[in-house]
Amino acid sequence: MSDDQQRCDLGMVGLGVMGRNLVLNMAEHGYTIAGFDKDSSKTEALRRDAQNLNIRGACNIPDFIALLRKPRTIMILVPAGAPVDAVITEIMPHLEKGDLIIDAGNSYFKDTSLRAGMLATEGIDFLGVGISGGEEGARHGPSIMPGGPRGAYERVRPIFEAAAAKVDGEPCVTWLGPGSTGHFVKMVHNGIEYAMMQLIAETYDLMKRGMGMNDEAMHGVYASWNAGHLASYLLEITSRIFTKQDDITGLRLIDEILDIAKQKGTGLWTSQSAMELQVPLPTIDIAVSMRDMSVLDEQRQQATALYQRSLRPISGDHDAIITQLGSALVAALLITYAQGMALLSVASNRYGSHLDLAAVARIWRGGCIIRSAMLDNICAAFRERPELPNLLLDPSISATIMIHDEDLRQVVSIAAASGTPVPGMMVSLAYLDTYRSSWLPANLIQAQRDYFGSHTYERNDCKGTFHTPWESK
Ligand code: 6PG
Repeated sequence: MSDDQQRCDLGMVGLGVMGRNLVLNMAEHGYTIAGFDKDSSKTEALRRDAQNLNIRGACNIPDFIALLRKPRTIMILVPAGAPVDAVITEIMPHLEKGDLIIDAGNSYFKDTSLRAGMLATEGIDFLGVGISGGEEGARHGPSIMPGGPRGAYERVRPIFEAAAAKVDGEPCVTWLGPGSTGHFVKMVHNGIEYAMMQLIAETYDLMKRGMGMNDEAMHGVYASWNAGHLASYLLEITSRIFTKQDDITGLRLIDEILDIAKQKGTGLWTSQSAMELQVPLPTIDIAVSMRDMSVLDEQRQQATALYQRSLRPISGDHDAIITQLGSALVAALLITYAQGMALLSVASNRYGSHLDLAAVARIWRGGCIIRSAMLDNICAAFRERPELPNLLLDPSISATIMIHDEDLRQVVSIAAASGTPVPGMMVSLAYLDTYRSSWLPANLIQAQRDYFGSHTYERNDCKGTFHTPWESK
């Protein structure tokens, strides 16, 4: 065997759980992989896990680079931000023109664009790749969202296709577009993830505090939803969460967990990017805000005392209300996907990335956190109408929404009467009601702007801009 044949197909920098599991996944598919982490205990752990797989660990960057076949392929899986730049700076002196760097972390897409530009001037290819699926996904098949030069993607396509999740035999990976398209798509994936988690949490609140249901009963509801139209990874794990016992107390673990939800920022970036592109996605915005609200626990305790109004138990036929709740969740989730897709559509036009929304929905059907049965229909809708600006304009999706929208309205009104906060459901309904409204009261806002600031307004009956001296008789 020649020296080059012994060298590794890909090198991974960053052997945290995600990096290590991806290395094991790729090696299991027959690839020879090198791993490096500045924490040598992680490299040791990888060596131990490698067993009979073709995995090599290196103790320093020069040794690591020497293990790679030329032109080299180096994947970086470290926390977003400065750590990515630190790794690039460290490996660059050892690279040659034609080598490829893949950033597979949750990097902010604007950082990816800057890095791609900087590396291009050095003759280094750069792919910004979103990877979803958590630890399990990385190990056994994630959804992979690559962006960057097409030729660079073709070089790693066989490894990516082998490692990705498969749905109906198709790998959940495809080249999405140039530059930072892959990281933009992953960012929107995470925004949708935030909103889906918030909506599911609201159904939990309604069942727990509103209807006084216990964990066992809620486990049953989530399991039954997951067996029907709502089949999805997040409902699957939610149903399991309600059965998990706490090792310390012997009680259900869910009830021992603090009600404060942290975040790493990808949901926030989705909302910020949508605001910049003037795309409304209130369900995602509210999900980000509600994480922030959860952190204000001391203030929430004070406000509980100040605004005393005990939560009114939800009366009526609980079985019927639970059915309505599941139905409302179908509508709210579809509305959430629609908002995320609308952002992708506008971003694609603005940044000229020619994003294939059907392909995005297709690669989200497996491996990733937001995978669900609904994505089959979403994929079909964009396949039929690639230019659809909003999923809610698709006739088949609208037919589904129309089946469920009265239940969403009922649930929102039941929740409001009981005092159970369901902001995600409320804004999803408001989004739908506003979007389908052929007339909005924005004429009054125009009049107000013109009144106090002479900002002018347009008229229904003729073209042009007008200003009225509102206080003149
Ligand atoms: C995924 C997840 C993953 C990570 C989130 C968590 O697709 O596998 O989205 O990327 O778990 O970034 O995000 P927060 O810490 O912001 O909730």
